[in-house]
Amino acid sequence: MTEFVEMKYHENTYRLPVVIGSEGEKAIDISRLRQETGFITLDPGYANTGSCTSAITFMNGEKGILRYRGIPVEQLARKATFKETAFLLINGRLPDRDELIQFSILLNDHSLVHEDMQFFYQNFPRNSHPMGILSSMVNALRSFYPVLEITEEEINITVTRLLAKIRTMAAMSYKISRGHKVVYPRPDLTYGANFLNMMFDSPVKPYEIDEDIVRALRVFWILHADHEQNCSTSAVRMVGSARTNLYAAISAGIAALWGPLHGGANQAVIEMLSEIQKGGGDIVRVLERARDRSDPFRLMGFGHRVYKTYDPRAKIMKKMCHTILEKRNIDDPLLDIAMRLEEKALSDPYFIDHHLYPNVDFYSGIVLRAIGIPTNMFTVMFAIGRLPGWIAQWKESMDDPNWKLSRPRQVYIGPTLQDYVPVEAR
Ligand code: CMC
Repeated sequence: MTEFVEMKYHENTYRLPVVIGSEGEKAIDISRLRQETGFITLDPGYANTGSCTSAITFMNGEKGILRYRGIPVEQLARKATFKETAFLLINGRLPDRDELIQFSILLNDHSLVHEDMQFFYQNFPRNSHPMGILSSMVNALRSFYPVLEITEEEINITVTRLLAKIRTMAAMSYKISRGHKVVYPRPDLTYGANFLNMMFDSPVKPYEIDEDIVRALRVFWILHADHEQNCSTSAVRMVGSARTNLYAAISAGIAALWGPLHGGANQAVIEMLSEIQKGGGDIVRVLERARDRSDPFRLMGFGHRVYKTYDPRAKIMKKMCHTILEKRNIDDPLLDIAMRLEEKALSDPYFIDHHLYPNVDFYSGIVLRAIGIPTNMFTVMFAIGRLPGWIAQWKESMDDPNWKLSRPRQVYIGPTLQDYVPVEAR
């Protein structure tokens, strides 16, 4: 039975249906609000707005819960492969053995990138940021590969192409930026090992696959695989809502992820920690700046729109950080600074009052450094991990019977009617 909330304005009362999600989340359906009342809602940053119903990812920001298709991210990080996680997100269930084998074969078959795409790479200016390159190259896939998005089988081909090629394209951008020869994907390597080999193998120094490193990368990607309606996912859904092709929608997602308040925070955290180190490790000063409202500085890797407690991904990432540094016998001074910073911030009244805790990006950069990833490639690593989530969300939106072109409204606050004045009279 549908429940309603009542909205009263002057002498009128309007009834708005209540929608309850499978985890008890409450929403008011305002889809007929303007038509029936003349009102729209105003919600900058959409902090109180549900843009869709979704069966992919469940988050509870107060309790620190994150589940993909109902499965806790902690279990997936411990037991699943990234490929299984991608399949789960996109298809709604874990693959059986045959499906997994078939999926692996397809990812291998589609892992090469059109040779002509290398010319594009070579013409980007030397210091181009890899996120700009990746976003452009993913968009350029549309020109090299036909858009197959009508039948289920066609969609699967486009989806597999993207999943298979993104790591080849990311590694290519790194190799070309260093002026080195591109390394091709290998059929005998797993998804992550293949990526690492394409990044680091060289004719003069063959890359030795280290299972600890592969495991760390797997966990990093699984933790980033989806996060419901965040900025980049909303960008993918919004661009996709115009029935733009999937490559373009994903390219928009990559561009949104690049920002330092979103995925770019992993690079910004390492830059911040390095600055603190260079300045002699003065943490008190950093916290003072973070508290100062007249200073635009924010403690990077802290705070989250949804999590008002410790980000569950950050807990796993922090543990991973210690494990990988210990196993690799690495003494990273940035870890020490990060831990001191966290400890001080968590007992600081400003951070307590604002519910600011470390997010996934606070420790992930240190893990990526231990893997050997250069700082300007950190957000690219996030993008590879987030790709299955973007695809799953795009697919869900395409199949949603209630889906509409995304087109928010506004409350106009500009000048009222005025006449045009010719230039001589101004
Ligand atoms: N350092 C200092 N103050 C902060 C921070 C921070 N990192 N984050 C939020 N605040 C304060 C902010 O100044 C404001 O204070 P007041 O109410 O006194 O004016 C209050 O907390 C609320 O901030 P907000 O910007 O309205 O909150 P939001 O929900 O829009 O912020 C955020 C979310 C992620 C943009 C923000 O916490 C932030 O800028 N964090 C640093 C960047 C970062 O680490 N981003 C990665 C997010 S996790 C990866 C991902 O999934 O994208």
